[in-house]
Amino acid sequence: MAKTPSFTCSSCGARYTKWSGRCDNCGEWNTIAEETALSSAGPAKKSLGNARGKAMALSDLSTQETPPPRTTSGLGELDRVLGGGLVPASAILVGGDPGIGKSTLLLQAAAAFARKGLKTIYVSGEEASAQVRMRANRLDLTDAPVQLAAETNLRDILTTLEAERPALAIIDSIQTMWADNVDSAPGSVSQVRAAAHELTSFAKRVGISVILVGHVTKEGQIAGPRVVEHMVDTVLYFEGERGHQFRVLRAVKNRFGPADEIGVFEMTGNGLAEVLNPSALFLSERGDPTPGSAVFAGIEGTRPVLVEFQALVAPSPHSQPRRTVVGWDGSRLAMILAVLEARCGIPFAGLDVYLNVAGGMKVSEPAADLAVAAALLSAREDAALPADTVVFGEISLSGALRAVSQTENRLKEAQKLGFTSAITPAGGKSAPSSDMKLTKMRDLASFVGETFGAG
Ligand code: TYD
Ligand code: MG
Repeated sequence: MAKTPSFTCSSCGARYTKWSGRCDNCGEWNTIAEETALSSAGPAKKSLGNARGKAMALSDLSTQETPPPRTTSGLGELDRVLGGGLVPASAILVGGDPGIGKSTLLLQAAAAFARKGLKTIYVSGEEASAQVRMRANRLDLTDAPVQLAAETNLRDILTTLEAERPALAIIDSIQTMWADNVDSAPGSVSQVRAAAHELTSFAKRVGISVILVGHVTKEGQIAGPRVVEHMVDTVLYFEGERGHQFRVLRAVKNRFGPADEIGVFEMTGNGLAEVLNPSALFLSERGDPTPGSAVFAGIEGTRPVLVEFQALVAPSPHSQPRRTVVGWDGSRLAMILAVLEARCGIPFAGLDVYLNVAGGMKVSEPAADLAVAAALLSAREDAALPADTVVFGEISLSGALRAVSQTENRLKEAQKLGFTSAITPAGGKSAPSSDMKLTKMRDLASFVGETFGAG
């Protein structure tokens, strides 16, 4: 069989038959490199339909399935993100920036599961065993019955796992793994894909759970092909800002539990500590009421979380004013600025706009629209919002405010943290039973008029 060259984009994993400077799929430059084909077997010559396969066992939808038995680690924040504990024979990918604390988290998780009686093997491809042991010492985990190895050769790892049959294997990281049947360097798309495929199919076949650690690129993708995300059951991202001690473990995909669930940790001198009340932590740096600050009562996964939006609006020296956002979607900000201008007559032309979520948290709920608008207006008008008020609601392009889900949970959390009033959209199904003073708004223009006396 003549070998056809294969080129793969290292950013998105798209495949091409010839090289080009720019990937048509993701638009990245200089990411396409030649890769040798994954399997040496040629394409099937006969159409599959002509071959005789085995008859599949079919079952109807009413077949009773017992939910998978789960093992909890005792690290509540981790168990929550996993959907209630570790499912046997599941494959999990944990992604995050280098240095964010993935190895720390997984060593703590390994120790916690091992102490619960799961046979656990931790394979480090990045650090020597001595280094891992030093970290274990710092984290006070040396007594946990975790088996360690420093290895990057996938064949040796699989042989060992096959013989040892642990319940859980942690591979730190997938980018350092090297399959000797694939002809390219560790960290390349082919290697990452082959290693992930071998490890996940091995996990399913032998019945062990694997946790793969993956580094994330600047753009926030797991370095290497996206296909790794499709191979695993669960994808977790470990995120946070370097300067902050908070770390958020976020489920972006979970076949065994709700996606969007978050677990919050704090990086301390001796490892990651669970944060049982994230709202209190995210609001802890809030001082006296200042212009540009609005507290959003949000929902992350199944749990309400309060965060502070901070905005700064200042005359711009540039012909094209700046729009800088941290922790929130830039195009959503553009939309809210446009609605404020078109529906409420409040222009932001000629003004630089900076928007930030305090504490390094990332918010993606549309329910934060009204809090963003409140922070922007408060900054622009140089008028602080009342300190005891939370804000939430979705803004539509017409300027109308839309009711959002779980109003009652949001209000309860706000009340728990000492807030006494809330600005919310009018409408919604039921009147929530709460002692909070509610100011209900139909549209953004009336919010502007009532809160800032402008508009
Ligand atoms: P690490 O887990 O090595 O990150 P990753 O595996 O994601 O690259 O953690 C690196 C950072 O965490 C490092 O800068 C030191 C810090 N750290 C602490 O602050 N406290 C600790 O107890 C540990 C183990 C690490
Ligand atoms: Mg690491």
